[in-house]
Amino acid sequence: MIKVKQLNVRGLDYNFSYLVFDEVSRDAAIIDPCGDVSVIRKALEDAKPLSPKYILITHGHHDHVSGLKDVLSFFDAAVAAHPECAAGHSINLADRQQLSFGGIFIEVLYAPGHSPDGVLYRMSDDSALFTGDTLFIDCCGYCLPRAMFNTMRNVIFPLAGSNIVYSGHDYGAVPFRNLGEEKRLNPYLATDDFDKFREELKKL
Ligand SMILES: [Fe+2]
Repeated sequence: MIKVKQLNVRGLDYNFSYLVFDEVSRDAAIIDPCGDVSVIRKALEDAKPLSPKYILITHGHHDHVSGLKDVLSFFDAAVAAHPECAAGHSINLADRQQLSFGGIFIEVLYAPGHSPDGVLYRMSDDSALFTGDTLFIDCCGYCLPRAMFNTMRNVIFPLAGSNIVYSGHDYGAVPFRNLGEEKRLNPYLATDDFDKFREELKKL
């Protein structure tokens, strides 16, 4: 079983970091190390023993990688990000790349719109989707409209509703929600009409 710990690291703007681990193999990944790094350190302590495998970056905006250097000092793992991400990383991710993790894999989904280096991470058992600043609960990130609309319709909407959406900031009515509900409730994801989508963006 894959476990996800949503970490309220606060950061610049109610940021979330995440600890993901496989209960059997103990493979572990940290997503977007940022904010109050002591919260991440505590979560790692609580979940011991763990085998550090990846630090996964959703995009290179400072508030998502502000803790990278500190976290590397106690979580010695390969850092993975899109090639255009300015944060130091050793794995250059490609769209639909599969990263082995425990008995499953983590699928990389290229998701431009909020930033040109945006990626999503999907657990291959369709239990979790990490969306950074692309998809928030109830809204989406500031974006180039056409690129973001394409990401919403062509990358995110087709995914299984069972995935829990774990985003980069605590902006919604709830901290996480499954994608099936989000497809229904989130106006930026629900619409297949670009003009409606663009209208919604004015509310951000
Ligand atoms: Fe961002």
